[in-house]
Amino acid sequence: MPAIVLVGAQWGDEGKGKATDLMGRDVDYVVKFNGGNNAGHTVVIDGEKYALHLLPSGILSPNCTPVIGNGVVIDLEVLFAELDGLIARGVDVSKLRVSSNAHVIAPYNRTLDKVTERFLGKRKIGTTGRGIGPTYADKMNRVGIRVQDIFDQSILRQKVEAALGLKNQVLAKVYNTRAVEADRVVEELLSYAERLAPMVADTSLELEQALDAGKNVLLEAGQATLLDIDHGTYPFVTSSSATAGGACTGSGIPPTRVTRVIAILKAYSTRVGEGPFPTELFDDDGEFLRKTGQEYGTTTGRPRRCGWVDTVVGRYATRINGVTDFVITKLDVLTGLKKVPVCVAYDIDGVRHEQMPPSQSDFHHATPVYEELDGWWEDISDCRTFEELPANAQAYVLRVEELIGARVSAIGVGPGREQIIERHALLD
Ligand code: GDP
Ligand code: IMO
Ligand code: MG
Repeated sequence: MPAIVLVGAQWGDEGKGKATDLMGRDVDYVVKFNGGNNAGHTVVIDGEKYALHLLPSGILSPNCTPVIGNGVVIDLEVLFAELDGLIARGVDVSKLRVSSNAHVIAPYNRTLDKVTERFLGKRKIGTTGRGIGPTYADKMNRVGIRVQDIFDQSILRQKVEAALGLKNQVLAKVYNTRAVEADRVVEELLSYAERLAPMVADTSLELEQALDAGKNVLLEAGQATLLDIDHGTYPFVTSSSATAGGACTGSGIPPTRVTRVIAILKAYSTRVGEGPFPTELFDDDGEFLRKTGQEYGTTTGRPRRCGWVDTVVGRYATRINGVTDFVITKLDVLTGLKKVPVCVAYDIDGVRHEQMPPSQSDFHHATPVYEELDGWWEDISDCRTFEELPANAQAYVLRVEELIGARVSAIGVGPGREQIIERHALLD
């Protein structure tokens, strides 16, 4: 039975949480394979809003086992606060599995994230300040703390002391802040051990056994293609592998098991934080998208930068992820526009580029080439079949589908769980 990967096609906040929740009802496992509580997924069920950061969106489906894979970085305080929040609302969280190989966001890495951003000044990345970058850097530097370390006090102490040996020098001498005491860090991490223990598992093995037993596994990305550490707009990216390849390394499921890759594409573009964004709008249209789409971050509350849909980015997402199906979200937000521009290519120094330019400097000064499609006025939020959509909305979807090069299998027409048009089954 298949493993299905779900990724963001743009710069995040495409509506991955809603799509995962929708599929979560019919899959047995939902695995978060990258990132941490930098993610923010809003899911609306029967008018009730749930904001998830660290937990896989499958946690809201009673029959689904949510898994935090080895590729995730975990802030344990946030994990338990999020679980408590859901328990208080009557959600059963008892099935959660956490990889023993996942890394833990130590408190000093939250501090380092913030002071590094301050130090960078106008060259800052605009991170979420959650300690994501420094924790992945520790992982690569082989001085990270893993979930399993919390169950071996002596190893934990040695690792924290080793990490702090250098970090305290940097904190005190470079950033002029207070050094961190190893004892306090160890104490804090150990305080979570008892509650964490029953959740910890060899998740890679459990997932393989589940696949062998004919179960469906959905691998849910945080962030998105252009925020991927390798394939995104580096250095204005997150520090993990948010593309389909990362689903395998971040979960321990081999590529040969993956049968489908679903990418979520917002009907326009948004970005939070710094970095290039060719179709960004600074005018009333941008404000219209922000207001109508309620484009304010789930995690930091920052207003999101908004622009028209960019099919060069969409095509790139298709290529990098091997997308088999797209879900276009938030088509309803475009209702009421006279013309809806679609970026089909870039003009870079007078040369037309239909593919993502390999040089970041070129991408920085790419001018979008637009095709202007006719808009529609009818409220589409109650449409449940493609044929019910106004002709111009249909034409918009079909043109975007042609340009991004993979079929559009579902279309979001509102935030609610039921506000979706399925053209092709996402699970079969
Ligand atoms: P994620 O990080 O990719 O899961 O996306 P976010 O949850 O950060 O942002 C997507 C926002 O759009 C959330 O507030 C969703 O409730 C909302 N949303 C998702 N799909 C649709 C849709 O089709 N129409 C509208 N209007 N809102 C949607
Ligand atoms: P979801 O899963 C949008 C952005 C931050 C910043 C950059 C690096 O909700 O789509 P980090 O804290 O990860 O080191 O910040 O990445 N970023 C996101 N933007 N959606 C997200 O997640 C994001 N996660 C990180 O704004 O520009
Ligand atoms: Mg989000």
